[in-house]
Amino acid sequence: MSASRSVLLIIGGGIAAYKCLELIRRLKDHGIASRCILTKAGEAFVTPLSVSSLAGERCYSDLFSLTDEADIGHIALSRSTDLIVVAPATADLIAKMATGLANDLASTALLATDKRILIAPAMNPRMWEHPATRRNMAQLEKDGVLVVGPNSGAMAERGENGPGRMAEPLEILAAIERALAGDMAAQPRAIGFLGRTPGGAAIAQKPLAGKHVLVTSGPTYEPIDPVRYIANRSSGKQGHAIAAAAAAAGASVTLVSGPVGLPDPDGVTTIHVESAREMLAATEAALPADIAIFAAAVADWRVADAAPEKMKKGTSGTPALALVENPDILATVAHRKTGRPALVVGFAAETENVIDYARAKLARKGCDLIVANDVGGTGVMGGDSNTVHLVTRDGVETWPTLAKEEVASRLIAHLAGLTGVSKAGA
Ligand code: C5P
Repeated sequence: MSASRSVLLIIGGGIAAYKCLELIRRLKDHGIASRCILTKAGEAFVTPLSVSSLAGERCYSDLFSLTDEADIGHIALSRSTDLIVVAPATADLIAKMATGLANDLASTALLATDKRILIAPAMNPRMWEHPATRRNMAQLEKDGVLVVGPNSGAMAERGENGPGRMAEPLEILAAIERALAGDMAAQPRAIGFLGRTPGGAAIAQKPLAGKHVLVTSGPTYEPIDPVRYIANRSSGKQGHAIAAAAAAAGASVTLVSGPVGLPDPDGVTTIHVESAREMLAATEAALPADIAIFAAAVADWRVADAAPEKMKKGTSGTPALALVENPDILATVAHRKTGRPALVVGFAAETENVIDYARAKLARKGCDLIVANDVGGTGVMGGDSNTVHLVTRDGVETWPTLAKEEVASRLIAHLAGLTGVSKAGA
């Protein structure tokens, strides 16, 4: 392997195995080489050929292959890497790890390694919540195994919903970067991870249980006439991820969304709007809230007099659009005399002087925290990752580039801490 950083990726047998193909590609983009072991069950979901084509080297699967032993033995395989990543980590693989079973190449490598291990669990919610899996996860945590996910949401099995979806490739990539940098233990644990009571028992963390979180997301469409409108390039990915992370943290969540091509997040009440004025009305109707997060890219202006009928070419020359300012939803809510949410969070997308502008915005809009991001030529709008700075009156905290889902769960963990509502269990 020529890259200076490498992982040994163990691909377990679950429907989420296909996401590992994207993970291998993303790792390569980040200069991280992956050597792969595919379990027998994993081979039912992805082929050794697709794994080896993407990884750029052969894919290992057989414990007793003489060629493998001559080439690189299973002990060396598990040690000639910086980190072992298990994705999807099935209930079976987790059980093997917890009890120290070594009856195939994957479990043998896991037992023989002297490197850190990161797992991305994926299974049916009932299996995830089963006392046996709880016990096994508690054991792995005690053993120092790092965990990313699982996320909550719809399962491949029709009608099944809950925790058990494997973390997205970018979330796993972010966790790998942190683990390689050696600072994973110092990071806030993602929402939905196992926590620990003072007595040491494993519990699910729901730090926002009993709280109402309001989120705006996506662009607004400002009509010119019944068929034309002014819009922007916001995808809604960041706002929707925040709503999903808040729900995973136990909050009751209202998402006021402009037109986006994303599904409504599971476990969230989603209200669909088009224009800024509709967004303001829906937002005010959803109050009171404990935390309000304004991630929508609201149009600054709307057409003063939208035509009631479709405007026709060639009737009175080229039309000029007169614009008027839209209401500022964030400022309106933040300046409320009564019923102001305890925490009001705004976003600031800037192309220059990001932090200075964010500080000014914080004061002008009356919010408690601004999540500032540099959108100058980085493909943030519509992209999957984000580099943000948290700006408050007390200072600035800059986060590394992270998947939008990871930004969302860290932001929610941060806000839970700020409101003093962070509590184990619930
Ligand atoms: O002023 P600017 O558009 O840069 O402010 C961005 C922040 O303000 C975002 O949090 C956005 O959701 C919010 N905003 C709003 N209503 C507007 C304009 C912006 O809620 N009309």
